[in-house]
Amino acid sequence: MNDRREHILDEVRKHHQDAQDARGFVPGVTEIWPSGAVLDEDDRVALVEAALDLRIAAGTLSRRFERDFARRLGRRKAHLTNSGSSANLLAVSALTSPLLQDRRLRPGDEVVTVAAGFPTTVNPILQNGLVPVFVDVELRTYNTTAERVAAAIGPRTRAVIMAHTLGNPFEATEVARLADEHDLLLIEDDCDAIGSTYDGRLTGTFGDLATVSFYPAHHLTMGEGGCVLTSNLVLARVVESMRDWGRDCWCEPGENDTCHKRFGYQMGTLPEGYDHKYIFSHVGYNLKSTDLQAALGLSQLAKLDMFCAARRHNWRRLRAALDGLPWLILPEATPRSDPSWFGFVITVDPDAPFGRADLVRFLESRRIGTRQLFAGNLTRHPAYAGRGNRVAGGLANSDLITEQTFWVGVYPGLTDDMIDYVAASVTEFVGGFVRRSAAARR
Ligand SMILES: Cc1ncc(COP(=O)(O)O)c(C=O)c1O
Repeated sequence: MNDRREHILDEVRKHHQDAQDARGFVPGVTEIWPSGAVLDEDDRVALVEAALDLRIAAGTLSRRFERDFARRLGRRKAHLTNSGSSANLLAVSALTSPLLQDRRLRPGDEVVTVAAGFPTTVNPILQNGLVPVFVDVELRTYNTTAERVAAAIGPRTRAVIMAHTLGNPFEATEVARLADEHDLLLIEDDCDAIGSTYDGRLTGTFGDLATVSFYPAHHLTMGEGGCVLTSNLVLARVVESMRDWGRDCWCEPGENDTCHKRFGYQMGTLPEGYDHKYIFSHVGYNLKSTDLQAALGLSQLAKLDMFCAARRHNWRRLRAALDGLPWLILPEATPRSDPSWFGFVITVDPDAPFGRADLVRFLESRRIGTRQLFAGNLTRHPAYAGRGNRVAGGLANSDLITEQTFWVGVYPGLTDDMIDYVAASVTEFVGGFVRRSAAARR
């Protein structure tokens, strides 16, 4: 039996070698993706092993990942979900729990967020009957500031949720302090930023809750997947309950009496002794993931430092190569931060003799993949028209991002040759306009 298993896993390793693309990088021919999963032999074996063991639901591997990941990020608890969007939904929903007593968010309460954000960072605010208060972001860092958040706080403002944009930390110390002073709950969307630090401290450790995505574009992947992190044990309990149908019981599948009083509860108007496994204390969801995903996550987690280092290396290489080019607003790390970058953001200066579309089309024609900065100004999308919100200050930069901003990749699958080709292509494109404008002046 074990021999057969070892044989299968040996064959999987051989298959992995066979499946490698032996063709080297060919400029203009090989696709340079903006993001993607980096999966090695161990990842493939981990997935197959979990499949051989028929680990099709959440179980021991999920719990191990949650423990290891929480420890890694310096939080007491991590709860796996089936996506980063689900993690955000759970995090915001958790803030409405009666277990939070007076701090609980109620319909009509306001939550500050950024207009140039990812849709599913914002959607849970609306999905919970809360009101988003949109603030603008800065160019270059693509984050908002504590000052803008402070100016947005009104009498009904109760929480803040925002992402560390494309890996670049927002002013987390200042925003957390502000949240403290105004009794606001803070959720960090850390989906793009695992491994980033602000003031020497990991992002995801400043808020009451933090969320992560394990979609293939992200720092670690499980295929689909996400996670909610917290060190607040009441919030951890709420997150688990809401993730698992809203049940009050915390037994693992297959367990029956972890609390040693399964038939000893009286809750709501239920009869005394009603089976705790079937008592529901939240209006919940099922947002669980599986051990197949966790198996891949554990294998990926072992490579996190390497992934983060590669992202930093690629970003710095590209930043140095593009420095000084006219008409491009190049990205900057937020002061006092060390980002584990998700992407390299470029804004085309509105005074440039070319537009974003021209540059993007040129890069795409060279098989250099580009992406928009999320949805640009979310308030301009049809989904948000007529939904209650408040805009604090103007959204001029979010509008500029909608028109002029895009990003290219720095993920660990990109080699120095690829990064140099991206830099050379941008330089060549801009250089053509430099020559033209010099000729026009002569
Ligand atoms: C900042 C941010 N939040 C949330 C998400 C949603 O994650 P998922 O795709 O796993 O649902 C993403 C996805 O890319 C994201 O970039």
